[in-house]
Amino acid sequence: MFYVSTPIYYVNDAPHLGHAYTTVAGDVLTRWHRQRGEQVWYLTGTDEHGQKIMRTAEANGVTPQEWSDKLVEEAWKPLWQHLEIANDDFIRTTEKRHTERVQEFVQDLYDKGEIYKGGYEGPYCVGCEEFKTPGDLLEGDLCPIHKRPVEWLREDNYFFKLSEYGERLLEFYEANPDFIQPASARNEVLQFVRTGLQDLSISRSTFDWGIPIPWDDKHVIYVWVDALLNYATAVGYGSDPERFERIWPADVHLVGKDILRFHAVIWPAMLMANGLPLPGKVFANGWLMVGGEKMSKSNLTGISPQQLTEHFGVDAYRYYFLRAIPFGQDGSFSWEDFSARYTSELANDFGNLASRVAAMIGKYFDGELPASAEREEAVAGALAETVAKADRAIGDELDFAGGLGAIFDFVKLVNGYLSEQEPWKVAKDTSEEGRARLATILYTAAESLRAVAVLLNPVMPGTAEKLWASLGAEEHLGALAEQRVAEAGQWGRLPAGARVVKGEILFPRLES
Ligand code: MSP
Repeated sequence: MFYVSTPIYYVNDAPHLGHAYTTVAGDVLTRWHRQRGEQVWYLTGTDEHGQKIMRTAEANGVTPQEWSDKLVEEAWKPLWQHLEIANDDFIRTTEKRHTERVQEFVQDLYDKGEIYKGGYEGPYCVGCEEFKTPGDLLEGDLCPIHKRPVEWLREDNYFFKLSEYGERLLEFYEANPDFIQPASARNEVLQFVRTGLQDLSISRSTFDWGIPIPWDDKHVIYVWVDALLNYATAVGYGSDPERFERIWPADVHLVGKDILRFHAVIWPAMLMANGLPLPGKVFANGWLMVGGEKMSKSNLTGISPQQLTEHFGVDAYRYYFLRAIPFGQDGSFSWEDFSARYTSELANDFGNLASRVAAMIGKYFDGELPASAEREEAVAGALAETVAKADRAIGDELDFAGGLGAIFDFVKLVNGYLSEQEPWKVAKDTSEEGRARLATILYTAAESLRAVAVLLNPVMPGTAEKLWASLGAEEHLGALAEQRVAEAGQWGRLPAGARVVKGEILFPRLES
């Protein structure tokens, strides 16, 4: 089973572009693997415990549970639905299926002697839900991520013996060079672990919005330990061993680079301590930036995902961020850049190609796809290469920008082919030879579009479906989602005789 997860998001507020960025990337990755014919499990969810949520709820005069329920139902789930996220499950950390298993996991560590009681004091950032080291702070007391003052905490806590896992983690990274990606993320973690790990405080006793420590209910479990375990509890850890065995370990944990250490250091150490298999990969995506800062609730400049989809449509939205920003690097959003790509890549290069080809097949062949008199090796060869490239880039390397770049280079190539061949001129030649040539050209273009529909389906499912319908492909080849990536590059799959109709415009002109 190919198992992909997103971080579970804090429900202190509604989702913004940054959250949607990771979730869309995971959706594209899982849809791509589904089209490879693999069994896939895609998990997302919400992180509902801890001080941050508790304080937000208090400030709004409701209980943390009420607050979480409202945000999950009114903001988070609806956005994922709107963006066509095809997750298989949605886990909330306040669900019993999670809380009970978390207690068992922690109890197990306690029984194994991995947890001891101690005291700790230090600067804590509630935004990060994390103790900071004084050296990390800006201007003496500001969290480097949230740019807000940290709080000084002194508590008796339970500790996990994280410091004992440094060597084993380094050996693991060494033996699994792809475990942390991209390379910059891997280097950061290696350096961090090499400098030596400290034990991790895994409980809090000054507030109660969390899962109680099973042997000492004056403490609640540290929200990050609680949260990380979602990846296991959601797939049957402790409740359904057969299912857990089938789905675990995760193949890819997608995370923002801000939460890399939790996933690449603490999480594998927790799993090692409990003797569970480790995940295949932790991929850290970069940040969407606003004015040189990580996009967050406080600097949103008022742009919500819904506002962008209203203007550009859901599919263009899904496409844009993955195409424009190399996955793993930071990037900024701008209306200008989005509009420019929409118009040149989606509307002109791709949308126009689809409508021109359908229109010409309508005009010259009454909408019936003609048989190709010969095979255009250059185009067929380019397609095979494109499929191989895109498959490697998107499916294996999570290089969405590279994969989409390859697909759109192919779209450009087909446009170039049509400008060179000038079918509208060839159409004037009514000899048998002329008709055969015209048939070859239009077949070549339509067959190329057939493959493009398959390759773009994981990214723009609505648009790809329209194109599939306009090519009359379903009747001969079956449902679009059933098309396999491995076959997408085989030339000649769309048979002569397919009913081609000029469907609706794929990417309408933008309103100014
Ligand atoms: N609840 C924790 C994660 C627990 S996972 C076991 C958390 N939640 S969060 O709501 O703050 O957001 C987490 C993730 O949202 C980030 O790691 C990242 O994947 C995504 N993003 C939030 N803001 C982002 C940007 N500005 N840019 C890109 N991704 C961002 O941390």
